Amino acid sequence: MAKSPLRVGFFGTDDDLQLHAVAKEARALGAEDILLRADALETDLPLSELDGRMIYRGIDVTDVTGFYLRAIPAAYAPYLERDDELVLYEDWFERYMQERERASFYVAWLLELQRKGARLVNPPTAASVLQYKPFQLNVLRSVGARVPRTLISNDPDAVRAFHADVKDVIYKPVTGGAITRVLDDETLESLEVVRAAPVIFQERIGGDDLRVMLAGNDIVSSVAIRTPSQHLDFRADPVYSEGDATYEPVELPQAVVHQCRDAARRCGLVFAGIDIKRTPEGEWVFLELNSSPIYLDVEHKLGHPISRAIAELIVGQRPLG
Ligand SMILES: Nc1ncnc2c1ncn2[C@@H]1O[C@H](COP(=O)(O)OP(=O)(O)OP(=O)(O)O)[C@@H](O)[C@H]1O
Ligand SMILES: [Mg+2]
Repeated sequence: MAKSPLRVGFFGTDDDLQLHAVAKEARALGAEDILLRADALETDLPLSELDGRMIYRGIDVTDVTGFYLRAIPAAYAPYLERDDELVLYEDWFERYMQERERASFYVAWLLELQRKGARLVNPPTAASVLQYKPFQLNVLRSVGARVPRTLISNDPDAVRAFHADVKDVIYKPVTGGAITRVLDDETLESLEVVRAAPVIFQERIGGDDLRVMLAGNDIVSSVAIRTPSQHLDFRADPVYSEGDATYEPVELPQAVVHQCRDAARRCGLVFAGIDIKRTPEGEWVFLELNSSPIYLDVEHKLGHPISRAIAELIVGQRPLG
């Protein structure tokens, strides 16, 4: 008797190339792919749960066995840009509450899939945990990985003391999503702003920026990112943002491989993009784990089979780790 194909879901936007790359690999592995558009609920694409069955555009998607999530739905303040300024919509409260309802519906469903044992890359619980950088740093310490000396604080005096001790210091937000900057004299003058919200201050680590992709138990790609001029945060480099970066494959020592695996597992991640600095002295210093890293450029330039590895995870042809 012919077996019905595995059905796996994809959650993200329709123009997301990475999502389509993984979906293509899943099809090549014999699975049927269903794209659940992240904007479905706000663009009138019908999604209903009736007595525990989830129906999307007329298709019963209750029993998908795997899922690739490009992003976890969450509510943000609805703003627009006007005269170079960000302003809230007049009906921001209504919009925000509607977005919160949409996100809650999606996440509840994803949690239910996780509860039933579906293979989620990544489980919603893990991905949301990773918005919390201080927790990640503690996980990394707990697996014996080296992390930069770090102060997270809303206390200007503590920041001044940290700077006096460490000297070469960078700062970045607790939730991520902004370019890393150097704590220079000018910034030291305006430290009062941290009273409003804590910031991560870190010893600046020199050396190569490495990007490591872990799928299940395996490192499927590990590269140094090369741009002609050295920027503190490689994403601030126009060469990188224009797609002209090059990548050099890097072999990781076994101890570092173990730290990657252990840290991902303790964060609940089955797939992770791990940021590591390799210092000129040959030390490996961990910065963070990303639950939905961008990797297509590396895949295209070096042929590392990352999309295939994610597809294998969701269709059940690769151990989750
Ligand atoms: N302590 C540090 N020393 C040197 N460079 C750093 C340090 N912290 C961050 N950077 C640089 O800034 C980049 C971004 O920092 P990090 O990866 O910690 O956060 P992020 O990518 O902004 O977080 P998110 O992915 O959540 O947006 C790093 O890849 C690295 O190039
Ligand atoms: Mg990063």
